[in-house]
Amino acid sequence: MKLKIRPLQQKKNEKHVYWSASYSMGIKLIDEQHKGFIAFVNDLFNHSTGHEDEEKAYFKSVIKMAIAYAKYHFTTEEKYMLATKFQGYAEHKKAHEEFIRTILQAVKDFESGKRLVLEKYAYFLKNWILTHVAGMDVSYSQYFKKIAAISSDGRFFIAARPQA
Ligand SMILES: [Fe+2]
Ligand SMILES: [Fe+2]
Repeated sequence: MKLKIRPLQQKKNEKHVYWSASYSMGIKLIDEQHKGFIAFVNDLFNHSTGHEDEEKAYFKSVIKMAIAYAKYHFTTEEKYMLATKFQGYAEHKKAHEEFIRTILQAVKDFESGKRLVLEKYAYFLKNWILTHVAGMDVSYSQYFKKIAAISSDGRFFIAARPQA
């Protein structure tokens, strides 16, 4: 699944998030998905014009796809966690579900006519993603690195354990 955004001209902006190696989970697929989120956050900032009609039209055009992408990403992570019997799975899944609930509430608010301030969503997403990646996602990636191997094409696999 690809996140289809139509980025505006990317001007350097201090609000934007720039990918750095410190965000890497060591798993290519997950890194690509995180990069997709970062591009989306930056696109939200780019479309935060302060003109309510423009912001509404943009929000309406992207939010469903963004939620689908978030669900897809969370499912990817959860599959890896389950496959590796990661101890923090339940707590992590809960955080994902809570995030989706928050976003769905935002959509409900939007649909019921509440004033939309796009920049507010952009900041919320930025903070949530950076905090979540640096905290919960890093903790599973450290665990994966301990028990797994990553092939040269970036694909993740569990190394066979030696027989006791
Ligand atoms: Fe996560
Ligand atoms: Fe993640």
